[in-house]
Amino acid sequence: MAHYKELGLVNTREMFKKAVTGKFAVPAYNFNNMEQLQAIITACTETQSPVILQVSSGARKYANQTLLKYMGQGAVEMMKDLARSKSLKEIPIALHLDHGDTFELAKSCIESGFSSVMIDASHHPYDENVKITREVVEFAHKHDVTVEGELGVLAGIEDDVVAEKSTYTHPHEVEDFVKRTGVDSLAISIGTSHGANKFKPEQCTKNADGIYIPPALRFDILDEIEKRIPGFPIVLHGSSSVPIEAVKLINSNGGALKDSVGIPEEQIRRATQSSVCKVNIDSDGRLWMTGAIRKVFTEKPAEFDPRKYLGPARDALTLMYKHKNQNVLGSAGQA
Ligand code: G3H
Ligand code: 13P
Ligand code: ZN
Repeated sequence: MAHYKELGLVNTREMFKKAVTGKFAVPAYNFNNMEQLQAIITACTETQSPVILQVSSGARKYANQTLLKYMGQGAVEMMKDLARSKSLKEIPIALHLDHGDTFELAKSCIESGFSSVMIDASHHPYDENVKITREVVEFAHKHDVTVEGELGVLAGIEDDVVAEKSTYTHPHEVEDFVKRTGVDSLAISIGTSHGANKFKPEQCTKNADGIYIPPALRFDILDEIEKRIPGFPIVLHGSSSVPIEAVKLINSNGGALKDSVGIPEEQIRRATQSSVCKVNIDSDGRLWMTGAIRKVFTEKPAEFDPRKYLGPARDALTLMYKHKNQNVLGSAGQA
């Protein structure tokens, strides 16, 4: 058993308290490898933003669960070095399990140094969701680990679970769910979804430049939820904006992405003015990383040193994370 406090990590409790009152959202960025982690730490330290490092169960298998524990610890040490060298404040870093689907997985992550876990049992019937979530909360809280639950189902792909359609969160359930489970934060479904194809073209309108404009998020549902659990930390998954520039960069360098539509950044910015205090972003990083790598391969087909294409990918990611912290989530300067 490695406790997260020994690794220099923090849970999400204080971060969320500050974010709800300060009307900003803490970035929750997914990572699977060293370059993504370096970019997140550099961007968040340099913009002085708190950060949640997010690991899906797929990422855990990909990166190796033992290595991940040390990557979490390494991230804290890297942040301290960077902060010292630039005379900046140290930032709070949480290591979080994204979309945990069983008690065993959540327990295993807690025992290997995670400071926060999500138990996503939202595809189960309500009472089953309550039961599974409660079980995780009881174990997690013994170790001062914070827990995110979910009500409502997002469309898209989460590891092996594919949901064709989203089911919006029912506001009348939130109070009971929070009370009975004891969760520290709640992920809700108000129209965001996972991946780079969040809406079908027929659901969108097209602007003069031929860019798809998706329907607005259901802020009415968010308002209803807030009325019932005022100030309670709310989480938005599926919040990538799928920038047209990143899609073009991929497609002009041999890629074949079609009908890619994300959540406009103004919508996410608006959501941060409520109790939304954690915003999950993965796909935008995947897009910029892929675009940067494809560009190197197009321009320098003889290149075979991984640092020569992963380096530019890391730079593109760093820029994107800084932009999110400064211009979308409002987390810059809130460490
Ligand atoms: O919500 C899903 C995240 O983007 C993680 O994706 O399960 O493919 O690692 P993954
Ligand atoms: P995106 O696919 O929109 O980046 O969402 C990521 C996410 O919700 C991770 O849990
Ligand atoms: Zn998610």
